[in-house]
Order: sequence, then structure tokens, then C-alpha cells
Amino acid sequence: MMHVIPDVLDAAGVARVRTLIDSAEWIDGNATSGHQSALAKNNRQLPEDSAQACEAGSIILDALGRSPLFIAAALPLKVFPPLFNSYGEGESFGMHVDAAIRIQRGTDFRIRSDLSATLFLEDHCAYDGGEIIIEGQFGTSAVKLPAGHMILYPSSSLHSVRPVTRGRRVASFFWMQSMVRSDAARGTLFDLDNGIQSLAARTGHDDPAIIQLTGVYHNLLRQWADC
Ligand code: NI
Repeated sequence: MMHVIPDVLDAAGVARVRTLIDSAEWIDGNATSGHQSALAKNNRQLPEDSAQACEAGSIILDALGRSPLFIAAALPLKVFPPLFNSYGEGESFGMHVDAAIRIQRGTDFRIRSDLSATLFLEDHCAYDGGEIIIEGQFGTSAVKLPAGHMILYPSSSLHSVRPVTRGRRVASFFWMQSMVRSDAARGTLFDLDNGIQSLAARTGHDDPAIIQLTGVYHNLLRQWADC
């Protein structure tokens, strides 16, 4: 399932992150690539151990922790510290698939990438191109969102970033391991959760059917979750 998570950061949050990362030293984006994606990638990134990237990443992780939509959609277990990239004119990232296992350099922190995220950090009218293209079960999506909004998609998806033809695209990107490994099971839980929430808004949370359905949600989560 693919999800747009709007307003992960408000304008002030985007400005805080941009002030930090814009003052940092950017390097060739292939620093984090595997062999296959290194052939396709042409952009700039902040080094993983950049102090500014770490501080900006914490702002994003805090914001994600306050997003009920993100939590319901991702059911996150472990989130890789957010990274940052920048595509200037003519830069792009060809079709690739993200590595299944991500290890944080110099630590024993590792995750299985179940979900990938791109959080847009530039005004979407300030650049042309730069859409992320995601191949899904029902076709291909081209996604470009306002600053502060995020796209969440299965890490198993083939994806690419179209060349930027004007301006500069700045974003944060990261991966996460979900408590629920299966995309289909996670999607079912998300739909059930949404259905319960909208029914409860009409009938009240103490309706016996809502209580029963909430039990079903938790019992499915109990069966499917690793934590
Ligand atoms: Ni990727």
C-alpha cells in the first residue's frame, strides 16, 4: 500500500530542517548505494554521520511519532535515521529497488526495509521534474508533494526519481521495519482501523460492535506483529 502522509512537518519544521541541512557539507550520493543503485544514481547527499543530518533527522523522527496516520499506516518497529538528498538540474536516480537490509555505519543497528519514505523539503513549485516514480500492483505513480508532506511505499517497489529540469529538489529519505512484515496484512489492518474509526465517529466508541471490531483489530495485530 502506498500512503501520502500530509503535514509531517509544518512550515516552521521544514524551515528548521532546511536551516540545518543547508549549512552542512554535501557529498556524492553514491556514498549509501549498493552496486546496482550506484549505477543509476546521480545526486548529492549529506554524510550519514553529519551532525546537521542527525539533528534534522531527530526533528523528523519526533514529528513522525506525533502522526497517527503514519503510525497506523506503517506500524513502525524500527526507523533508520533519516538521510537527506538533493537533486540539481539534470540530476536523477534511475529505476532501482532499495536494499533489503540496512545497517547503520559504525553501529550494530540494522533493519529489514519493509517501507521506504520520501519527505519533501522544497516548495514543489520551485523546481520542475524530480517526481518519484513508484511501480505498484495497480500501475505506476508519479509523486511530487508540497514541502513537509511524505510518501510512504513498500520497499519492494521498483522506483526512480525523474530528472530535475529547473531548480533543486531537496528531500529526506529513509526506511523502516514494520511490526507487520506483510504489506497485505498491514494494509488490511489499516483499512480495518479506518473503518472502526469512522463507524465509532457515528455510533460512539462504547457501541458493543465497535468494541468487538476493536478486539478483532488487536487480535489480528497480535497474530501478525513482531515486536
Ligand atoms: Ni530508493
